[in-house]
Amino acid sequence: MLELTPDELLSTTRAVRKRLDLQRPVEREVLEECLALAQQAPTGSYRQDWHFLVVTDLELKAGLAELWRAGGERYLAGIDPDAADGMMGRVLAGVLHLRDHLHEVPVHVIPCIEGRTDGTGVFAQASRWGSIMPAAWSFMLAARSRGLGTAWTTFHLAREQEAAELLGIPYAEVMQAALIPVAYTIGTDFKPALRAPLDSMVHWDRW
Ligand SMILES: Cc1cc2nc3c(=O)[nH]c(=O)nc-3n(C[C@H](O)[C@H](O)[C@H](O)COP(=O)(O)O)c2cc1C
Repeated sequence: MLELTPDELLSTTRAVRKRLDLQRPVEREVLEECLALAQQAPTGSYRQDWHFLVVTDLELKAGLAELWRAGGERYLAGIDPDAADGMMGRVLAGVLHLRDHLHEVPVHVIPCIEGRTDGTGVFAQASRWGSIMPAAWSFMLAARSRGLGTAWTTFHLAREQEAAELLGIPYAEVMQAALIPVAYTIGTDFKPALRAPLDSMVHWDRW
């Protein structure tokens, strides 16, 4: 376990792409500890209808990485690498690195939730997505506190149905929320990110 205060944990759990150790295996027991902590998160109506698919099989990871790359193509095509400077430039460099190495990352974790919300209103959507997002973020925090790096990614969801077929997920009943690459980090020192001033996004009493 890293020696991090709760505030340090919350402020230094970054999207890790370039500093993922692709050589060091991740122990199943460590992943299970993180997943057990994720289970402490809330779900709407206490349904506990979340699922985490942990993928370590080389062929399956290669298949997922292919779908991720295909899904990310449109996003990457919309970015001019010469115009992406500062923070966005760093994110882009990280995304390109992950694109080239995703299949080599020791573990891919796919948080899923039962019940599709395609075409439904905000209430249904917020209830379903809100039943998996807190658990997935808890998983990422627990991973960080154990020296593991993660990144929230969604590119493969452009090809969600194909990913479901690859992994045997019942697509008609279950939505995938993300694909989280997991590996030990190269070095454990991460810094808080630069964010906009608090008053640009906090509203007291009225918007
Ligand atoms: C909903 C969501 C979707 C994201 N999808 C991707 C993705 O598909 N690929 C990727 O490399 N990063 C993805 N990210 C990560 C962001 O691009 C961004 O790098 C990250 O939030 C910044 O993290 P940092 O503040 O730790 O640097 C996603 C993040 C969120 C919250």
